[in-house]
Amino acid sequence: MRSSILSAVTAAATLAFSGLGHAAGIDEWKSRSVYQVMIDRFARTDGSSAECEMHLFCGGTWKGLMNKLDYIQDMGFTAIQISPIVKNIEEHTAVGDAYHGYWSLDNYKLNDKFGTEKDFKDLVAELHKRDILLMVDVVVNNMVQKFDNVIPPKIDYSKFNPFNDKKYFHPYCNVSDWTNIKESQDCWLYPYGVALADLDTESPVVSKELNSWVKGLVSNYSIDGLRIDAAKHVNDEFLPAFVEASGVFAWGEIYTDSPDELCRYQSLDLLPGMPNYLEFWPLNDAFNGGTFEDVATMKEAARSGCNDTYALGNFVENHDTARFANRNDDIAIAKNAMTYILLNDGIPTVYQGQEQHFNGNSTPFNREPLWLSNYDKTAPLYVLTSTLNKIRNNAIKLDSSYIESPAETLRVDNNHFCMKKGPYGSQVVFCVTNKSTAGTKYEMNVGGFQASEEVVEVLTCRHNTADGTGTITMYMNNGEPKVYVPAAALKDTGICKETTKDEYSSAAPGALGVTGGLAMAVAFGWAATFLF
Ligand SMILES: *[C@@H]1O[C@H](CO)[C@@H](O)[C@H](O)[C@H]1NC(C)=O
Ligand SMILES: *[C@@H]1O[C@H](CO)[C@@H](O)[C@H](O)[C@H]1NC(C)=O
Ligand SMILES: *[C@@H]1O[C@H](CO)[C@@H](O)[C@H](O)[C@H]1NC(C)=O
Ligand SMILES: *[C@@H]1O[C@H](CO)[C@@H](O)[C@H](O)[C@H]1NC(C)=O
Repeated sequence: MRSSILSAVTAAATLAFSGLGHAAGIDEWKSRSVYQVMIDRFARTDGSSAECEMHLFCGGTWKGLMNKLDYIQDMGFTAIQISPIVKNIEEHTAVGDAYHGYWSLDNYKLNDKFGTEKDFKDLVAELHKRDILLMVDVVVNNMVQKFDNVIPPKIDYSKFNPFNDKKYFHPYCNVSDWTNIKESQDCWLYPYGVALADLDTESPVVSKELNSWVKGLVSNYSIDGLRIDAAKHVNDEFLPAFVEASGVFAWGEIYTDSPDELCRYQSLDLLPGMPNYLEFWPLNDAFNGGTFEDVATMKEAARSGCNDTYALGNFVENHDTARFANRNDDIAIAKNAMTYILLNDGIPTVYQGQEQHFNGNSTPFNREPLWLSNYDKTAPLYVLTSTLNKIRNNAIKLDSSYIESPAETLRVDNNHFCMKKGPYGSQVVFCVTNKSTAGTKYEMNVGGFQASEEVVEVLTCRHNTADGTGTITMYMNNGEPKVYVPAAALKDTGICKETTKDEYSSAAPGALGVTGGLAMAVAFGWAATFLF
């Protein structure tokens, strides 16, 4: 039974939320930008920042997150995706503790390591008050128990709620051939330290129960969207009914680099969205000795293969991959990767710590507690993310057709990928490069504007005017990305309230840095600033 206070909080949240004028379906989600939070590693209730063991609990909580929402909101994010919320196993295992939330034991209890039911409901109410959507990670492929590595695993099924009997599970087998779909769906994943007892989601009893569970979960806690963990490892037929029962948008984890394999989930109407694992690899490679041509090729393949690339989540790292900076820790490179995922077609998805340039290797080292960064809002990638989220949010506000206007390639070569996204008036023209901080100065001409249009490069707050063909000159330097919007689009946004003329010094081409350019502008008394 809810207390009347909780009901009042929930009612207030519902009101604030319905004030948006639309339910959080697929279209709403496409307009959002998602920050991925690993609860145990985001913030502690008391805000303390002591170090901890990476394979054990570090003490992050829902309340800790609630207290630090400004950090996320000030970066311009409009949705968060959080760790699973149900009760997990509590033992220490050979592969660490269940700090990540993926080792479900009881689907009907909340994970008390992350807080109380009130803490969770308070968090959701606060998110909705701020118009931030909540996506929750859910595990449907398996329930989990610690085991002693003796095969076959001895499972005490009576410990699971609700699947408290062997009959709800596939018989034990190990996935040994990961390319065999049937085997990877029906066998048990990674049996070591913990056994991931594989639910028989083909069984109508099991799928009916999971559908009714998720419906209750979403409505009890006002959840706005789901990430379905290991979606590739359950049978196809299970997915659409589960998503429909939830009543909200869902993306499912389909770990593959094959457009056919990923896109079939949309073309067969199995899932509305997926994290974009297709571009993930070529994008990482482009900054590590590869080429943007391969990113462009994959982008085309996804566009022709998938029904709806606008419902794919763009990312360059997540809690399952090594950090982007683990392969290449150049800051300019990281800025370019961030720029691409924030401005590309699809839903930007940034994993906590990426904005602090964390560089951990594979699990668990890619799960650094965020408090180690001191939540530095002046970190270069934090500042960049904040600007670009605001640019994207503003473009959508000016003209919601921005979301589904296909990003057009203006230029692609080994070192650059330039695109224009959005209808005239709210278009964003951007170039990413893999030249790195060592990149030298050079000019590059890129189109995408109207003749003589006034434009602003928003990462340096410099203004320029397009020529008679709508082409602008980009003054490339130090491998920095470039992002231009029409000057008029920035009116009343607070972004680049003052701008200086975009150019290298005319006296000594290519010889002056940012400060030099500013000094010259002042010295020559140019009309150096636009004030909005
Ligand atoms: C399961 O198969 C994998 C190969 O996919 C192998 O590395 C692992 O040792 C096997 N584990 C068991 C317990 O059979
Ligand atoms: C949702 O709340 C109802 C009513 O209290 C309860 O019966 C149900 O078990 C809850 N579902 C979940 C998933 O918590
Ligand atoms: C996706 O495309 C397929 C094949 O054209 C179609 O059957 C399906 O209904 C489409 N799904 C959506 C969500 O548009
Ligand atoms: C950038 O791309 C070029 C051409 O493909 C490649 O040779 C170079 O190694 C890449 N740079 C980085 C930092 O990956």
